[in-house]
Amino acid sequence: MNETRRAVLDALADGPVTGPALADALDVSRAAVWKHVEALRDDGFAVDSTDDGYVLAGVPEYGGLAVEYGLEAPFEVEYHDAVASTNDRARELAADGRRDAVVLADRQTGGRGRRDREWSSPTGGVWLSLVLRPDVPPARVPLLTLAAAVAVTDAAREAGVDAAIKWPNDVVVPRSGPDAPERGGDKLAGVLTEMEGEASRVSWVVVGVGVNANVDVADLAGDATSVRAEAGDVDRRAFVQRALERFDALRGDPGAVLAAWRERAATLGERVRVDTADGAVVGDAVDVTEHGALVVETAGGDRRVVHAGDCQHLRPVAEP
Ligand code: BTN
Repeated sequence: MNETRRAVLDALADGPVTGPALADALDVSRAAVWKHVEALRDDGFAVDSTDDGYVLAGVPEYGGLAVEYGLEAPFEVEYHDAVASTNDRARELAADGRRDAVVLADRQTGGRGRRDREWSSPTGGVWLSLVLRPDVPPARVPLLTLAAAVAVTDAAREAGVDAAIKWPNDVVVPRSGPDAPERGGDKLAGVLTEMEGEASRVSWVVVGVGVNANVDVADLAGDATSVRAEAGDVDRRAFVQRALERFDALRGDPGAVLAAWRERAATLGERVRVDTADGAVVGDAVDVTEHGALVVETAGGDRRVVHAGDCQHLRPVAEP
């Protein structure tokens, strides 16, 4: 949102304020104020004209400006009703030199998951990608993925969902009991991080986050769940704002990310099977490294550090 429009919006929120008073305060013409007010109305903000001047009467339910308004994090949000993949659009913005941009969509027609899997992205979900330019070597990038998983977990918990993180970055609702899925719970959200850079420095990072928010489970693939199914529909504007603010706080405090991830992890302490490119690793998940790798203690007592793979939580071995 451009600076003057933001200033007009803030003044209307504190209003009523007359056009001439606003023009004086912002050092712009009355016609310019009128244009900004009309543009805000076009963008879905309700601006009432009263005897005492303009006053903000309502904020759009969802969208770029709706998320930016009141957001306590420095992101500019580009909104699409539909887009192939927010990660693809974010990569274009990254190639154009943008930073701290967010691409947000109501629906994706070609959503991508990890390992080139399709990601169901019906209308009502939260599909977004952040464009970042962190001044770090590539080895530090996994911390951003972990931070995103923490941020989404916290926003989901605030929405009333019993969310936890399954390594590496799935946000799940853990299940127990005889009918529980072996994988570690039903998937609520996932994170897909992509980057470009050199050995010593990252050029850009795109962190794509998909949250099954106000969607029916029948419209999703696999063992998935949604905020709607767990806790009822959520205010997506507030959800995205909380997640972005939490992410912004964590990226500013990288030393806190691992502890926050561990606290929310459903995987640590579980017996797991991780399918890696070099075969399966089975054992107890005992920790995560600063690079986001899972430490698995195998039956022989070896500690294996697993950097990538599909993780399943196994049922505990029955006591003899
Ligand atoms: C996973 O496989 O768990 C990661 C899923 C990531 C999906 C999100 S939705 C927003 C962004 N755009 C995409 O195409 N993918 C990510």
